[in-house]
Amino acid sequence: MPIMTERQLSTIDRLLIQADRALRTLTRDTQSPGRPSPAAEVPEGDLDSGQRRHAAGLMRVNHSGEVCAQALYQGQALTAKLPQVRGEMEAAAAEEIDHLAWCEQRLRQLDSSPSVLNPLWYGMSFALGAGAGLVGDRVSLGFVAATEDQVCQHLRGHLQTLPAADNKSRAVVEQMLVDEAKHGQTALEAGGLRFPAPVRGLMRLVSKAMTKTSYRI
Ligand SMILES: [Fe+2]
Ligand SMILES: [Fe+2]
Repeated sequence: MPIMTERQLSTIDRLLIQADRALRTLTRDTQSPGRPSPAAEVPEGDLDSGQRRHAAGLMRVNHSGEVCAQALYQGQALTAKLPQVRGEMEAAAAEEIDHLAWCEQRLRQLDSSPSVLNPLWYGMSFALGAGAGLVGDRVSLGFVAATEDQVCQHLRGHLQTLPAADNKSRAVVEQMLVDEAKHGQTALEAGGLRFPAPVRGLMRLVSKAMTKTSYRI
């Protein structure tokens, strides 16, 4: 058997670690949240079947958003240099794991399941995250900031349209909103570029495609 150099081993190691992370993101019950769900202590509301379906649709969209967030941070970690703020980005990525697990738990409570399209969203977001990191740290951080900003807009919209009695989903979304706003701010303060309006417009279009489809499937 040929002897592998340290460099070859570390490339294979990195690929295996990445494959493991992708599989964990895309399979159920494999992520342990660092914080308990904000919904844990909140009593289940009285929802009819239509309201449960609507709440599940919104939480499925949020879950897909968290799959994208995982992929984005994992792509960034692979290519961006981030000498000063790697620790902060890793802390943000860890909070995204909490969000992913909380959304998955809530979907299960609503007798529903994550989107079948998640592998597609994961692949796209990973490529975008890694691509932005290759261009440079400021673009990479700017991409995180613009994405988090968009997620905040979605979450605010969901708080308006979630069934009034669904306090469990609301508790999850409210904490996510606090965390995402912090992530976006951190990325900007770390030197992230403010993306011009046309780029943000394009990102909105892509995220609309994701939210429309993940709501249903
Ligand atoms: Fe998140
Ligand atoms: Fe975030």
